[in-house]
Amino acid sequence: MTETLPMVVPEPGLPERVTIYEVGARDGLQNEAALVPTEVKAEFVRRLLAAGLPVVEATSFVHPKWVPQLADAAELMTGLTAELGDTARALPVLVPNERGLDRALELGLRHVAVFASATETFAAKNLNRTLDSQFAMFEPTITRALDAGLDVRGYVSMCFGDPWEGSVPLEQVVTAGRRLLDLGCHQLSLGDTIGVATAGHVRALVAAFEAAGVDRSRLALHFHDTYGQALTNVHAGLQAGVTTYDASAGGLGGCPYAKSATGNLATEDLVWFLTGLGIEHGVDLRAVVGTSVWMASHLGRPSPSAVVRALAESPA
Ligand code: HMG
Ligand code: MG
Repeated sequence: MTETLPMVVPEPGLPERVTIYEVGARDGLQNEAALVPTEVKAEFVRRLLAAGLPVVEATSFVHPKWVPQLADAAELMTGLTAELGDTARALPVLVPNERGLDRALELGLRHVAVFASATETFAAKNLNRTLDSQFAMFEPTITRALDAGLDVRGYVSMCFGDPWEGSVPLEQVVTAGRRLLDLGCHQLSLGDTIGVATAGHVRALVAAFEAAGVDRSRLALHFHDTYGQALTNVHAGLQAGVTTYDASAGGLGGCPYAKSATGNLATEDLVWFLTGLGIEHGVDLRAVVGTSVWMASHLGRPSPSAVVRALAESPA
């Protein structure tokens, strides 16, 4: 029996390799109603690393009342650090503010991410801040992280639409993103928090950033798959030359403060798509599928990913 994989047919003009930034343990689990035991989370992270995922975002140092599912962030990272040492210290974690950064620094973690909103309403709902005052919260957080030798990713949410405000002008997103870069973020992840982006919109937003002097090499794209557009949007991103894509094993995910946010683009769907295009990603598809099937058994429901479903049923 041969391995079930797509035939490789490259498309001229696309990047040769991409980085998959795995967010399942953070964006995926933060929205789960049932509390996932810390040891299961640790096993999830270990399995994702073993599958070859180059970046595995592990958890969030946010207020435990705001995201109870990730209240065990310190316990998780302490356990992983004891076991994996610098490999665990290199796993990125979310920190919204200085308090979150302090908690990450206490554990010797090296990579943090702040998360901004492109809209006023979501800044209030997700961060209890105004659009403007969120940056006052990030400024000392980023400065202190950089002084401590960390690097800081910047997320921008609601880049393609907001459930309360509707469409979000490109310039508004570029302004929010530029502010994070000016504060010292090395990379911007443009979040389609509620999954409403379409391909032309993706190309237009990347072009708007480039017109504002932000090279595509500093951009990552973060799609949720609410309307089934995530892979089409990745294709548009690849055509625009973006080489980092966020994805979540099994398509877990959502945002507890944006009710219409559903699962992230599934890592397996992304890996299948990139494999067919002959784009290097370094990820063992079978190992991620096995991980998602295992995780689904803990969550009590099957993965929404078509690739997970198809491969889980086909022999290796
Ligand atoms: P706040 O209530 O304004 O906080 O929340 P505060 O600064 O007024 O502090 C109040 C109390 O909270 C204080 O304690 C602080 O110490 C404590 P007290 O003195 O009263 O005892 N506190 C903390 N404790 C632990 N860790 C912390 C922390 N910060 C303050 N970090 C805050 C402001 C930002 C903390 C809150 O709004 C929050 O935690 N929000 C997080 C929301 C969240 O995690 N959302 C999901 C992630 S974003 C996302 O999913 C989108 C993304 O995937 C991209 C996309 O899809 O678009 C990234
Ligand atoms: Mg997200």
